[in-house]
Amino acid sequence: MAEQGFTPPTSEWYRPSADMIKGANVPDYDAVYDLARQDPEAFWVKRADELDWYQKWDQVLDDSNKPFYKWFVGGKTNMALNALDRHVTTWRRNKLAIIWEGEDGEKITLSYWRLWQETNKFANVLRSMGVKKGDRVTIYMGRVPEIAIAMLACAKIGAPHSVVYGGFSEQALASRIDDAQSKVLITCDGAWLRGKIVPLKDTVDEAVTRSPVVETVIVVKRTGQEINMQAGRDYWYHDLMALPIAKPQADTEVMDAEDPLFILYTSGTTGKPKGVLHTHGGYQVYTATTLKWVFDIKEEDRWWCAADPGWITGHSYIVYAPLILGATSIIYEGAPTYPYPDRWWQIVADYGVTILYTAPTAIRGLMRFGEAWPARHDLSSLRLLGTVGEPINPEAWRWYHRVIGEERCPIIDTWWQTETGGFMITPLPSVDLKPGSATRPFPGIEVDIVDDDGAPVGTNEDGNLVIKNPWPSMIRTVYGDDDRFISQYWEKYRDQGWYLAGDTARRDEDGYLWVIGRNDDVLKVSGYRLGTAEVESGLVSHSAVAESAVIGVPDELRGNKIFAYCILVEGVDGSDVLEAELKAHIRHEVGPIAVPAQIEFVDNLPKTRSGKIMRRVLKAKALGQPLGDLSTLED
Ligand code: PRX
Repeated sequence: MAEQGFTPPTSEWYRPSADMIKGANVPDYDAVYDLARQDPEAFWVKRADELDWYQKWDQVLDDSNKPFYKWFVGGKTNMALNALDRHVTTWRRNKLAIIWEGEDGEKITLSYWRLWQETNKFANVLRSMGVKKGDRVTIYMGRVPEIAIAMLACAKIGAPHSVVYGGFSEQALASRIDDAQSKVLITCDGAWLRGKIVPLKDTVDEAVTRSPVVETVIVVKRTGQEINMQAGRDYWYHDLMALPIAKPQADTEVMDAEDPLFILYTSGTTGKPKGVLHTHGGYQVYTATTLKWVFDIKEEDRWWCAADPGWITGHSYIVYAPLILGATSIIYEGAPTYPYPDRWWQIVADYGVTILYTAPTAIRGLMRFGEAWPARHDLSSLRLLGTVGEPINPEAWRWYHRVIGEERCPIIDTWWQTETGGFMITPLPSVDLKPGSATRPFPGIEVDIVDDDGAPVGTNEDGNLVIKNPWPSMIRTVYGDDDRFISQYWEKYRDQGWYLAGDTARRDEDGYLWVIGRNDDVLKVSGYRLGTAEVESGLVSHSAVAESAVIGVPDELRGNKIFAYCILVEGVDGSDVLEAELKAHIRHEVGPIAVPAQIEFVDNLPKTRSGKIMRRVLKAKALGQPLGDLSTLED
């Protein structure tokens, strides 16, 4: 069941200019792809050799216990070594690492030297509070420079971080704290969004009540409103950073290549979010290589990944890979339309952004306001544009290319996942493009589109997207749940040993790949990933709801919107008031992104004889389409 159904315009080509190809870090995709295919291990060794290691590996890939692959076995490193320590001994200490702009107009810049010092200070603070190598630290913050400092400080002391997106509500936060068993939580008093304060600390207070494992809360002051500070548990970041213990030098923990760097929770097919585990070694090698080649990062670039650090896009391509490459990264705190719909274009012009990377939903959102807003600003610094998170519809692609890229900038459509750590299917700047296609796999990656038995499907036919070989930044496991790791990703094609992505895709007559959408119970709403089961269990946690089913239906702006069907408990009747109450309940329990566009009250739900809800039938009904094969329907 693919979510989106546009017809790919497979014959529409956009070719990069000769100058673009000539100047690119990788001018010949085919040659490099072939090289990597001939000897993948030698290929990755070359990439790993570009980074610093305390000690090199004994073995490149250990595949003796599939699917628990290990990379650079025996190698000793630390993300902080490559992202910070190695730069401050060179001229790069003076280069800007981060340029930050608050939604209220406040501006902060951090050189590599300053970022290194702040990270060291905070690493010392965390150590002084008893955080040790291996302890999990939860981070629940807005888009402020301190989120990068917090992540880097955790990496430096070897404490895996679990960043929870600031748009999640208390139940979502509490369950993630609980799963990771974090004793320390780092947050902000609030975050600015559309001129209003998102009260992060209030949410933390409730989450910590629900998940009492947290002993210490560190609070960055951003919005300045009155908040509750519980003595003995809550500490201001700025107070701690002013203590003598917060020295600007700190030892970097020597980590095994396979030691965990972070856990990042993402939605799966059950209500319980999965903690995707990434490690220090392979993840560095893969993210740095992909960013350098795909977005052609040069010393003088100003790179702006406009995602949130709380998602994998932000982990890999706001914080870690740009810093490993010694690049200058832009972070903007707020909404693209605040105070006016040209805020982003203003930022591009103000900072001379050369590469912009965002999501189709944001492009569609800005497209609505017309061309006059971008036309007011000088966008001539841009040389590459990127997109991620969901399929980009060709109309949005063309607008992005013509209006923002002024027909000069290739559109780099990157397909990947929290689990993959980095870009998997993507053009390089030297590759010919087709609007809506992520083109071809990154060198070192082999993908295919197959049917349920593993046989390749024909040209332009839909099938399951699989990855056929291991890669350095692949998910290592689901935190604390190896069985789920196997059943989710490896069981379906166990005999072949392929990774199941969970997406439907097709390949056209030119070998170009088109990702159509998820084919499991995962939804993409405005590029955010949500499990139908998460929304359903949120609804059922309301006392009026006995049972519920949730589906995604296509939406022009958001990609998909959520429709919910609820069976109410005996004696309760559906009403507009109850619908509004349930929406508020979901906002509170899961977060604003999970609020259904529509809730329908029903007497029963279509189920198979084994009791599984047939979402396909609900979806067909919602879209006014034929209901299809109903032979397995119970009633
Ligand atoms: O369905 C695919 C979609 O996003 C899913 C992964 O979501 P998440 O783990 O949140 O990571 C998003 C950012 C890397 C995929 O299974 N997806 C991501 N990028 C694309 C995409 N679908 C189509 N085209 C893309 N470029």
